Amino acid sequence: MFIGEGPGQQEDIQGIPFVGSAGMLLNDYLTAVGIRREDVYIANIVKCRPPKNRDPLESEQDACIGYLWEQVRLVKPELIVLLGRIAARKLISSDFLITREHGRWFDMDGYKMMATYHPSALLRDESKRPEAFLDFKSIARELGKGDKQ
Ligand code: URA
Repeated sequence: MFIGEGPGQQEDIQGIPFVGSAGMLLNDYLTAVGIRREDVYIANIVKCRPPKNRDPLESEQDACIGYLWEQVRLVKPELIVLLGRIAARKLISSDFLITREHGRWFDMDGYKMMATYHPSALLRDESKRPEAFLDFKSIARELGKGDKQ
């Protein structure tokens, strides 16, 4: 299961998470490490698009978090990958530092979780892409796919 921040413009129109440019890049990373998007459940912290793409407010996140936990309960994911700072701070720790702590595995409420860069951040700053690729390789390894190192 992958969890992003909230719907962008395309996601709002189509009602499907990660179908815009960030979603295309997410698809590329999944494909590169041998994970099929059809095998992944994707959700967001907030369920409505924040105005002008601003970060979702804490109160908005709190209003939606019950729905997210219900999604998690129904999906029973093998592992959870948090895309970006907002999701990592909501589900791992409120002071999570994505630049320093991405790629580390945590056991949270019995779920194995890792945070990596949000694909939008990778679109803005390509220098982060090799690190993100290593995170995706680690995800594939946890799922029993890919190389063993
Ligand atoms: N960014 C997100 O965090 N979620 C989406 O669904 C799309 C873009």
